[in-house]
Amino acid sequence: MLRPFIAGNWKMNLTLKESRELAGSVRDGTEGITGVDVGVCPPSVFLEDVYSVLEGSSVILGAQNMHWEDKGAFTGEVSGDMIKEVGCTHVILGHSERRHVFGETDSMINSKLRTAFTKGIMPIFCLGERLEERESGSTFEVIERQLRAGLAGLRPEDVSRLTIAYEPVWAIGTGKNATSTQAQEVHGRIRALLKESYGEDVSASVRILYGGSVKPDNAVELLAQPDINGLLVGGASLKSDSFLEIISAAFEQVRSAV
Ligand code: PGA
Repeated sequence: MLRPFIAGNWKMNLTLKESRELAGSVRDGTEGITGVDVGVCPPSVFLEDVYSVLEGSSVILGAQNMHWEDKGAFTGEVSGDMIKEVGCTHVILGHSERRHVFGETDSMINSKLRTAFTKGIMPIFCLGERLEERESGSTFEVIERQLRAGLAGLRPEDVSRLTIAYEPVWAIGTGKNATSTQAQEVHGRIRALLKESYGEDVSASVRILYGGSVKPDNAVELLAQPDINGLLVGGASLKSDSFLEIISAAFEQVRSAV
């Protein structure tokens, strides 16, 4: 069993004070948790502060985005070196809001993934189909295109350290999660594609998280699926109670597996 990874994507929410408090609650609430990776991804302006709250704990700090270039005339962007300097070890790349609200293309996301690995930052690479794509039966096709284009040119040893997040766009922030069967079907497909391109060992080491309206009451069932290795949580990560409940679900699953 791969070590589950539960990551909170705070998106553009919270004040600085609320960010510090939430980070403190996650730090304290995960003290006895072993066998599960827990991470938070605050807005970039709060990263340094949140890092100072998390320092010394095992909670992972991730950014929500980064640019592929090191520096230059890219107004409004932050570089990999910058997020590293304020304590990030991880970064979310290719989130559907970046793709569909801000027009990020597969090739931009590929550049970001390459840069992240060059800098030693661990990407959480997001992909997922839109509602009309699911309804027209092209889910697998979309996933395959996003996966192949996103990973183009990456070394197999980088791919083996990757975290992928399958987030169907129609399930994000809608309260309508994919069923565990729907999610497993796509996760299994992603695993099979990885195996085809990179072999058994690489495909078996990639963690594939599910994201999209994850809540404490659907986390257990989602995590029970063989190819779901963790969760990327938006709305429910903004309250420590619900986020910690989801983390406990993963912890229970790890405990019951031994
Ligand atoms: P949600 O967001 O849990 O609020 O649906 C998930 C995400 O976008 O990462």
